[in-house]
Amino acid sequence: EQFQIKEILNQNTYLVGGELKTWRGQTSDIYSTISSTEAYQPTYLGTIPTLGKKEAISALDAAVEAYDKGQGLWPTMKVVDRIACMEKFVEQMKTKRDEVVKLLMWEIGKNLPDSQKEFDRTVEYIYDTIEDYKDMDRNSAKFQKHDGVHAHIRRGPLGVVLCLGPYNYPLNETFALLIPAIIMGNTTIFKPAKFGVLLLSPLIEAFQNSFPKGVVNIIYGRGRTVAAPIMQTGKVDVLALIGNSKSANALQNQHPKSNRLRLVLGLEAKNPAIVLPDADLDLAISECIAGTTSFNGQRCTALKVLYVHEAIIEEFNKRFSEKVDTLKFGNPWEDGAKLTPLPEPDKPSYIQELIDDATAKGALVINKKGGKTTENYIFPAVLYPVSKDMRVFQEEQFGPVIPVVPFSDIEEPLNDMAESNYGQQVSLFGKDVKTLAPLIDTLVNLVCRVNLNSSCQRGPDVYPFTGRKDSAVATLSVHDALRSFSIRTFVASKDN
Ligand code: G3H
Repeated sequence: EQFQIKEILNQNTYLVGGELKTWRGQTSDIYSTISSTEAYQPTYLGTIPTLGKKEAISALDAAVEAYDKGQGLWPTMKVVDRIACMEKFVEQMKTKRDEVVKLLMWEIGKNLPDSQKEFDRTVEYIYDTIEDYKDMDRNSAKFQKHDGVHAHIRRGPLGVVLCLGPYNYPLNETFALLIPAIIMGNTTIFKPAKFGVLLLSPLIEAFQNSFPKGVVNIIYGRGRTVAAPIMQTGKVDVLALIGNSKSANALQNQHPKSNRLRLVLGLEAKNPAIVLPDADLDLAISECIAGTTSFNGQRCTALKVLYVHEAIIEEFNKRFSEKVDTLKFGNPWEDGAKLTPLPEPDKPSYIQELIDDATAKGALVINKKGGKTTENYIFPAVLYPVSKDMRVFQEEQFGPVIPVVPFSDIEEPLNDMAESNYGQQVSLFGKDVKTLAPLIDTLVNLVCRVNLNSSCQRGPDVYPFTGRKDSAVATLSVHDALRSFSIRTFVASKDN
């Protein structure tokens, strides 16, 4: 009962230049694929403004004016005062936990424990960012002297940041971009993703109350209508986006100096697990379950292909697929619901296409419940044996389908990883240190994080989050993001 949506959110305001503007134009209705009844029906959640180019440009103008070529109140503000604004924001944000958690469940179908975790983790991220920023300031304030040249090195802002977040972590990943960009003295325009758009509304006033006008501007609408015209002006200094390469490339290319634009991007990944013959199978199976099925596989950090050694494949497949079938499907607030409805209406049919393609080319769905659909869900299908010619091997599925690839020689997964367009993380399961040590040395040069006997994940958020090749540009983490959204500047003087 406490999680039901009782009041419809008519969010007809957006934030520009410190003012909550009331929108009287076209709006979009937001529906949830989650149903509070057993019979599936899309649930109307609320309405958001569908802004046009004019409103988008007004948000950009507000950010440009607030930055004022680096002379504005915000980029020149003392560190201690900027921190006070951020502390005010996070204190106000904390009062909105219940509303935001409820919207996370309704809008994107994230289960209750994960929705709570996303909120709490984001609050922690903000506090950690404040502490790291203080450290950065303390350390950089030191004077240095080399060869008779004194230097006072600091980190300064880059300018105007256009920030776009993803639907799977509409709070945490969005704030992982926005918060460091703001605290470093940049000014920002933020456009949320299509799903997870309403959950910003309980926080919009906290942004308005906490930061000087124009520092944070929040707009809604279609990317090509609002984000593209902003990029075309050439006034954006940093494009910060977590999502897909297609959107990132399209926006980057709108910028007249696209090759000079600074990018902070978190993009696709196809993280593999490699299960060696001596792996602890209980551990490997439970970690692979978490890695492939948590939030229905809709994580850039999800395990998206499992390489299992031939010597143990039979036992692995049997136990793994049986365990997948024990996962409970339900509404996000239901006790123990691990699998939840999918927010993207076309996702079940896309996953079905991948299954059909793989089975037509010789793979089998090896778990009993695999591929069973309801209108807004498809049960995770474990596919075996998967080969390179199958779409599920090539594409980032971002949903509930689990390809299992047998291997006899470790060179097989290593070669695939070297040829892949992606390079975020890998999970390696095995016991023998003599085998693992050289393998780890190889793997760290193919991806950016090797998870030993554990599934891939982004957190804890203090650790570097990045990727090689098409998986990322720049590095996030509490510490790294402050650096990604700033530049080193210094004042030098000579001994006379
Ligand atoms: O989609 C990518 C997210 O950053 C995943 O974060 O691994 O902590 O769930 P996570």
